[in-house]
Amino acid sequence: SSAPGKKPLTLAFESIRGEKRDSVVVPAGYTAQVLIPWGARLTSDVPEWHEDLEITPDIQANSLGMHHDGMYHFPLNKGSESREFLLAINHEYIDQGALWAPRGGPTNALEGQRPADEVRTEINAHGVAVVHVKKQADGRWTHMVDSPYNRRITNASEMELSGPVAGSDYVKTRFSPDGLRTRGTSNNCGNGYTPWGTYLACEENWPGYFMRDSDRQMDDDRLGVSRGRGRYGWETAAGDASEQNDEFARFNTDPVATDATGDYRNEARTYGYQVEVDPYDGTRRAVKRTAMGRFRHEGCWVGKLEPGKPVVFYSGHDARNEYIYKYVSKATWSPADANRPGANVDRLAIGAKYLDEGTLYVARFDADGRGEWLPLTPDAQTRDGHRLHAALGLAADDQAGIIVHTCDAADLMGATPMDRPEWGAVDPTSGDVYMTLTNNSQRTAEDSEATYTNEGGAIEESGVGFATAPVNEANPRPDNGAGHIIRWRDGDDVIRFDWEVFVFGAAAADADNFSGLNELNQFASPDGLWYDDRGNGEGILWIQTDNGYAGVADHTNDQVLAVVPNGLAAGDARAVVNAGNQQQLKRFAVGPNGCEVTGIFATPDKTALFINIQHPGNWPASEDATEQTQGKVRPRASTVVIQKEDGGQIGV
Ligand code: FEO
Ligand code: CA
Ligand code: CA
Ligand code: CA
Repeated sequence: SSAPGKKPLTLAFESIRGEKRDSVVVPAGYTAQVLIPWGARLTSDVPEWHEDLEITPDIQANSLGMHHDGMYHFPLNKGSESREFLLAINHEYIDQGALWAPRGGPTNALEGQRPADEVRTEINAHGVAVVHVKKQADGRWTHMVDSPYNRRITNASEMELSGPVAGSDYVKTRFSPDGLRTRGTSNNCGNGYTPWGTYLACEENWPGYFMRDSDRQMDDDRLGVSRGRGRYGWETAAGDASEQNDEFARFNTDPVATDATGDYRNEARTYGYQVEVDPYDGTRRAVKRTAMGRFRHEGCWVGKLEPGKPVVFYSGHDARNEYIYKYVSKATWSPADANRPGANVDRLAIGAKYLDEGTLYVARFDADGRGEWLPLTPDAQTRDGHRLHAALGLAADDQAGIIVHTCDAADLMGATPMDRPEWGAVDPTSGDVYMTLTNNSQRTAEDSEATYTNEGGAIEESGVGFATAPVNEANPRPDNGAGHIIRWRDGDDVIRFDWEVFVFGAAAADADNFSGLNELNQFASPDGLWYDDRGNGEGILWIQTDNGYAGVADHTNDQVLAVVPNGLAAGDARAVVNAGNQQQLKRFAVGPNGCEVTGIFATPDKTALFINIQHPGNWPASEDATEQTQGKVRPRASTVVIQKEDGGQIGV
């Protein structure tokens, strides 16, 4: 539909009604298959999952983890990209009720010492999976148990630090006195991928997994490292902290030794990064790329790629009134580095070339629709006219310190506090960047002051953030329960950009339903996002929700919507999607009760759309994702493959 002379790309399905069922709902003519749910085994030497299976550390380390989130596909051979690939997938966090269902729940979840084997199992349910998947002759998908590519990376896997923080005093620990390694990646939420064929697992709500009793470091407060017990009490499995049991004591960041190489006071500073994984080579450790900043990374999205120009990645910090960032590589893009499936190349060495040396910027959105990327470098001039390093109390050459204190640095530079940045998406032709701003209960009315309460440690399922901030043009609704999506385009000078609001979430009946949504496309709390390029400068923007806003949640479970953004005529100045064209935003799928819908891509031939159902309440009933659960099942997050019964392209 995109060849010259043909009619513009349009969505060919009917927007579906809101649903509140224990099933996935898709438009007429589509199927939805459950693929690789939590517990699906990667090797045949662990038991197959069943309803009463007691999960052990070994079973969990060799099976799909819990709470599937971001994911991406990596082809194995040229020509079969749409039928067989490696699926890299994030396992964000866990449902302890489902994990420990056979024993009636977790042991000592809230107080007392956690049993070591329960903690090991929970640690192994986090992280990343690489799974070899294939489309069968009958059109259904399966995963290849015992494929040599299958791999788990968990919150215990050894990994490398690279970039400015690596080897600095900030990250020296008992485990790694030289500050070059750490163990584990945690709360991998949204994701990214690189043009050279690696996966980026992004560390989001990791601060809650560490605990402290002391008030030592300002970044602990800023990011919300727990006071007292960590999120799942993993540190308690160490017993007496003075024993310094390496396996579990690392989650307690209070000093117990005379210097940092004798304890884990710096362990939390080995978290908060973009984590690069070579999905093709299971012998290589994952690498934490510290140059890209340290915060609660929702995900990471590569910008428009042009030979001879820097490679750009966008990232958001998902907490209330936090910021949007851009990383610009020092090296310029060489098409010779593009991924070649099957080629025997050192992809992590290419990653080091682009991701270890570059400049990190934070965004300021101005009232006139322009914006500026503010550099986070020691010499940058802060809003108050000081050198950034001096304003932070750091030495003149301490880029590692700037990175460890990324958020404090961004405050000083005058970045714009946003309504919880979640996923980004990039139109590879125009370079337009979209980012979801999911909601913000701490956005106050115009005349109020910004405040910092610093009540660190209060971890919630859906968003932390201890600051309040008044509305601004880019975040214009006080107490923004429904969220919105912003769009910007960088100028040629790296520094300037133009922005506009793309769409406002709302219930149809809301007074601030600025995009004119109706009962067939009302949505709130946009989260997952993907620009599905269909050629000739056309594409579909897919939007996924993680909604706690009653105005919409009373009508429908979380959902997937689609819109062709470049087909929309501008109109109402408030948003690109407005009352005149809102019918072009269509509801494509609805998830089961209790879930959020997150993680999305289509096969290159556009015949299969992969999504993830995270934290469902009572699903799946069978391999048919659309089957309504009868009675009660042990719930399992899962990837779902949506295809057309006639084998055609999704959405059109
Ligand atoms: Fe893990 Fe911001 O969602
Ligand atoms: Ca989530
Ligand atoms: Ca998310
Ligand atoms: Ca969310």
